[in-house]
Amino acid sequence: MTGRDPLGAAARDIREVLLTGDEIAARVRDLAGAITRDYADRSPLCVSVLKGAVYFLTDLTRALGIPVQIDFMAITSYGSARERSGVVRLLKDLDVEITGRHVLLVEDIIDTGLTAGYLLRLLQARSPASLRICTLLDRPYRRILDTLEIAYRGFEIPDRFVVGYGLDYREHYRHLPFIGVLRDDILSGETPPAGLAPAGDARASPA
Ligand code: IMP
Ligand code: MG
Repeated sequence: MTGRDPLGAAARDIREVLLTGDEIAARVRDLAGAITRDYADRSPLCVSVLKGAVYFLTDLTRALGIPVQIDFMAITSYGSARERSGVVRLLKDLDVEITGRHVLLVEDIIDTGLTAGYLLRLLQARSPASLRICTLLDRPYRRILDTLEIAYRGFEIPDRFVVGYGLDYREHYRHLPFIGVLRDDILSGETPPAGLAPAGDARASPA
């Protein structure tokens, strides 16, 4: 690409690229193929949680060969980015009824499994015809809810905090077209994320 720096400063905060955009795209196509086959005569409702799974959901649904609908929930999880408490509060519910529908919960990453577990209980209580999980990333090392069944899994990743392709650290880095490991000095708070102005830094003020 000439004359452009599409990733900008944010990419310099990444220590290591784990999954390139091309690798993600190829795997999303595989998953879409499997879902298309499994739901051949059905039209599932793909449900995602704002905002991390949005990039994955839009790419996945565009690669499907079956008619689907999409809907969103919004939640807050208590605890820091790295230490989840498992206590979740619903900020926005689905717009549509799911009773009797085939529901596919599309997640960005399953870590402890507590968020997905909470959402599954919430959705199951509304008697969908079926309910399955599709997650782009699975990081099984800190799994607390170990009974979680994952029907579709993009990648198993190492025990590192990752950002990009929808995943954030304090709302930064979602727009990166790859998934990477954040530098330790940023995770520790020693250095602010590229989009955040260090206090008193003149470069930070927009012209
Ligand atoms: P769980 O409840 O521990 O499984 O956490 C799931 C949620 O935590 C995900 O949907 C993400 O929003 C967030 N999360 C977990 N790990 C990461 C990560 O490595 N990077 C960014 N967000 C993460
Ligand atoms: Mg987040």
